[in-house]
Amino acid sequence: MPKHTLTTESGAPVADNQNSASAGLGGPLLIQDQQLIEKLARFNRERIPERVVHARGSGAYGYFEVTDDVTGFTRADFLNTVGKRTETFIRFSTVADSLGGADAVRDPRGFALKFYTEEGNYDLVGNNTPVFFIKDPIKFPDFIHSQKRDPFTGIQEADNVWDFWSHSPEATHQVTWLFGDRGIPASYRHMNGYGSHTYQWTNAQGEAFFVKYHFKTNQGVRSLSSEQAAEQVGADANSHQRDLVQAIERGVNPSWTLHVQIMPAAEAADYRFNPFDVTKVWPHSDYPLQRVGRLVLDRNPDNVFQEVEQAAFSPNNFVPGIGPSPDKMLQGRLFAYADAQRYRLGVNHTLLAVNAPKATEAVNYGRDGLAATRNGKRGLKNYEPNSYEGPSQTDLALSAPQAVSGWTGTHEAPLHVKDDHFFQAGELYRLMSEDEKSRLIANIAGFLSQVTRDDVIERNLAHFHAADTEYGARLEESVRALREG
Ligand code: HEM
Repeated sequence: MPKHTLTTESGAPVADNQNSASAGLGGPLLIQDQQLIEKLARFNRERIPERVVHARGSGAYGYFEVTDDVTGFTRADFLNTVGKRTETFIRFSTVADSLGGADAVRDPRGFALKFYTEEGNYDLVGNNTPVFFIKDPIKFPDFIHSQKRDPFTGIQEADNVWDFWSHSPEATHQVTWLFGDRGIPASYRHMNGYGSHTYQWTNAQGEAFFVKYHFKTNQGVRSLSSEQAAEQVGADANSHQRDLVQAIERGVNPSWTLHVQIMPAAEAADYRFNPFDVTKVWPHSDYPLQRVGRLVLDRNPDNVFQEVEQAAFSPNNFVPGIGPSPDKMLQGRLFAYADAQRYRLGVNHTLLAVNAPKATEAVNYGRDGLAATRNGKRGLKNYEPNSYEGPSQTDLALSAPQAVSGWTGTHEAPLHVKDDHFFQAGELYRLMSEDEKSRLIANIAGFLSQVTRDDVIERNLAHFHAADTEYGARLEESVRALREG
């Protein structure tokens, strides 16, 4: 057979890919036309469910290189030697819109990173924002419903967005961030990435630390104003994807420097902010940034569907020396992602090349399911313990244990001495230059003034008043002017 013969899925040569087989010259088509039936049926099955959030995204391969010694804080193998490199895959994303949405919108950006370490894949699934809107996972589906398209009108509604926030004062910090100057990144290359949650590191001596991750872009932070973004969306809805793929094809490899904030575990209980509240930051004056290494992106995926759409990140994919903190939001996420992927991609999604470990092998007793291609070597038992030298546990905990006390129940997150919903939002406002403040006010007022109900507007304004009296007063004035005008 010539090298480039077109074949069916089963490898048989195709005689005619232009004309369907029919009963006679002008008659109906024949079910025996395998090429026609297979092509149409296959095409009908091309789409899979898009991610329920972060549906639109862009991915790239690269590496992480350790530049500073952090072995005093974690025994993670991939961080244990200065100069050590680990292959990575990253997926950036917008959050609220569906797969075909525009890139240059005011929305957080996902920053999901997979490290293919020699001790298994470590996924750090963060955003370009150091904080989040809510602090309990039980609110997440409601929050997302309020931000995505309304079930009746089919578009995002200011009424829903602000109604939810009016009942969620803890969102004031993140809302201030989102409507500020960094709310619309110019591209994925020009934004920082954050783990946002607090995680736990454990060193070789078993000592525990709480950490926050900060990836600082080496391209410089660049953002778009609301007006620039509107123009950009009109001119090129795929601006972030185009920018990333073209930069890497040109050999302009984007990079980020990873820093961490490190808190000895014993300091958590008495810290002025609850360190496990994802609506709060740790001021750098309390816990300074310490450099860890460098992330470089240097290779585009060959196929967007195969490697980006089917990429699966889970905050519960840890490696020894790194583990979760008791942050309630993080705890909820430890369940949600792999569950979403079993639905979206199937139970064997970890076998796909982009999701499988690259620097080690997955060896366990998980078996079968749809599209199983790694069912263990011939003769291996499918139960454990066994007497046949099958793989067995290490008896080494991944991370240090954490003490708990109290009663089961539906508790609010504990408040530390400086905790309320508004202080850090006010601090962020007060940090801004006069111009920045004016743009922030205009951005929020432009959206909030579209809300049709007075009570929703009033409840939201009360949050900004509580954050900073000037912030609240200026916003109230702008919203009134826009509604009257
Ligand atoms: C309890 C709160 C949350 C829940 C239940 C949740 C749930 C989800 C789910 C189900 C997906 C789709 C996963 C998939 O289909 O592969 C997703 C994607 C994502 N989430 Fe969350 N999320 C939460 C909060 C957060 C927070 C706080 C962050 C950032 C700090 C975040 C960052 C991301 C990112 C970056 C993606 C896209 C991952 C990718 O590129 O494939 N999420 N989330």
